[in-house]
Amino acid sequence: MDPLTSTADNPGTARTPGTADPAPGAAEVPSLQVSGLAYAYPDGHQALFGVDLTVPRGQRVALLGPNGAGKTTLVLHLNGILTPGAGSVTVAGLKAGRPHLAEIRRRVGIVFQDPDDQLFMPTVREDVAFGPAAAGLRGAELEARVHEALERVGMAEHADRAPHHLSFGQRRRVAVATVLAGRPEILVLDEPSSNLDPAARRELADLILSLELTVLMVTHDLPYALELCPRSVVLSDGVLVADGPTQELLSDVELMRAHRLELPFGFDPRSVTVPVA
Ligand SMILES: Nc1ncnc2c1ncn2[C@@H]1O[C@H](COP(=O)(O)OP(=O)(O)OP(=O)(O)O)[C@@H](O)[C@H]1O
Ligand SMILES: [Mg+2]
Repeated sequence: MDPLTSTADNPGTARTPGTADPAPGAAEVPSLQVSGLAYAYPDGHQALFGVDLTVPRGQRVALLGPNGAGKTTLVLHLNGILTPGAGSVTVAGLKAGRPHLAEIRRRVGIVFQDPDDQLFMPTVREDVAFGPAAAGLRGAELEARVHEALERVGMAEHADRAPHHLSFGQRRRVAVATVLAGRPEILVLDEPSSNLDPAARRELADLILSLELTVLMVTHDLPYALELCPRSVVLSDGVLVADGPTQELLSDVELMRAHRLELPFGFDPRSVTVPVA
């Protein structure tokens, strides 16, 4: 049965894509709590050593660090793709793991580093419909959800195209739409500005700022972190080595040098007016 055309059997309240569902007691509970998270890959390579990170609801946090620091490994724990060797991940009060896996995956929307890792259907429309359809949405309600998510990323006119016929930047936007269509509690973006042209980079920033979602953004694009995330954390060799206002961290020359973080030529983070944490 095609979920886009079938009869609505799961009516719900229409909501804007990207608006998190309120969960009972959610106001007091952080969106994300990572405690003592350690992980070694099956080949024995230890990528994370006891990471602690709490992100209150609605906060936007940049996750910075050099290549190989463990950023993607941390992200893969947030919706249960990887299982902690030690420690725990809790999303809006729900511990990541077997009993809550489906609900955790609904609440944590991850936009992967490579959009081709999350686009696999014959059309853009079907890719964006996939998550909400799996959650039970049908018919007109599903169609509206898909359209809203594609509108949000400026891709509605491409709904019937094959994802593999789109440019990289367009595929990145569709990947964001697939995640927004699920109305996550927390939006996790792994290097969202990579390979985008300046206008697309700006449009994605505007979109992220408009969402009022909890955001964890992995990035090497330090001006982007400064613009979008009042708070940043630095992961280096699997250890969280800094946590504070983005402007302060980026202005800390010793910290930056010690962890292979480099600002673009001529960029002075202190000269930029930024939102407060
Ligand atoms: N499947 C794997 N098996 C073994 N080791 C891995 C695997 N995937 C990643 N690693 C190792 O784990 C460490 C952390 O990798 P990870 O991909 O999390 O880094 P990252 O901070 O996301 O880097 P980048 O900025 O390059 O994306 C690296 O040393 C990497 O070589
Ligand atoms: Mg990575």
